[in-house]
Amino acid sequence: MKVKVAKTAGFCFGVQRAVDKVYELIDSSEDPIYTLGPIIHNEEVVKDLENRGVHVTDEDSLEKLPPGSTVVIRSHGVGKAVYDKLDGLKLSYVDVTCPFVLKIHRIVERESAKGAHIVIIGDREHPEVVGIRGWCRGDCTVIKTSAEAEQFNPPAEKQVCVVSQTTFNYNKFKDLVEILGKKRYDNNVLNIFNVLNTICNATEERQKEAKSIAGEVDTMLVVGGRHSSNTQKLFEICKKECENTYYIQTPVDLDSEMFQCSSYVGITAGASTPKKIIEEVQEHVRIKF
Ligand code: F3S
Repeated sequence: MKVKVAKTAGFCFGVQRAVDKVYELIDSSEDPIYTLGPIIHNEEVVKDLENRGVHVTDEDSLEKLPPGSTVVIRSHGVGKAVYDKLDGLKLSYVDVTCPFVLKIHRIVERESAKGAHIVIIGDREHPEVVGIRGWCRGDCTVIKTSAEAEQFNPPAEKQVCVVSQTTFNYNKFKDLVEILGKKRYDNNVLNIFNVLNTICNATEERQKEAKSIAGEVDTMLVVGGRHSSNTQKLFEICKKECENTYYIQTPVDLDSEMFQCSSYVGITAGASTPKKIIEEVQEHVRIKF
């Protein structure tokens, strides 16, 4: 059976880098290892790490960690106060904040230090946005909806610097920026808006590639967790291109009926699907069908 696996299937670059680093640490360090929050929203990976002695902790529990512990800052990143706390407690840490997120930290730190008011387009509670907020010196506003954008009142005579959560939807970002743009002359004062599109295109690229492969193959497999919304979205995209599209979680879900009259199979996977599972599915299809 001919099989084509999407290059963008599974973890994005930032998450892959973070997960790889934790496994590297397990092999190279004798110290207790803790991740600040789950390294990825995938139960299997977190459970596997737990079995290897890597535990999940949070900011409020850092004081209780055993001496000599190493803390891993995950790809979402954290605010400045967390680095200060780690330094204050003399805890060693490994920082695997995604470079695209780090770039946003540096922008908001620099612009807010110059006096700009920071606007973050994103979800206020999302850990990445919490981290970005933590680098703003001074006030910042988080905007997620059109109503919030309409309500935004730019502080008089201040420059406004707009950035985005990396995973925010681009079209929604554009709509919100358009609403904000009309605010420039509010209060009869001209505010200068500096808009920086800091959206990462990993998700969009994954969807584009899945669509293209689904258009070529006889059977398309979409691998991911049952509750993964981005895997569900991939499935919908592929199903439109290839009627024979199946949503599976592991090789156990494979069935010979999926491959009747098929000679070419495509595989893609959601953002939290480990490489190992994608490889197992691929092997299974190649050998058994
Ligand atoms: Fe992933 Fe980094 Fe983009 S974590 S989604 S590559 S911002």
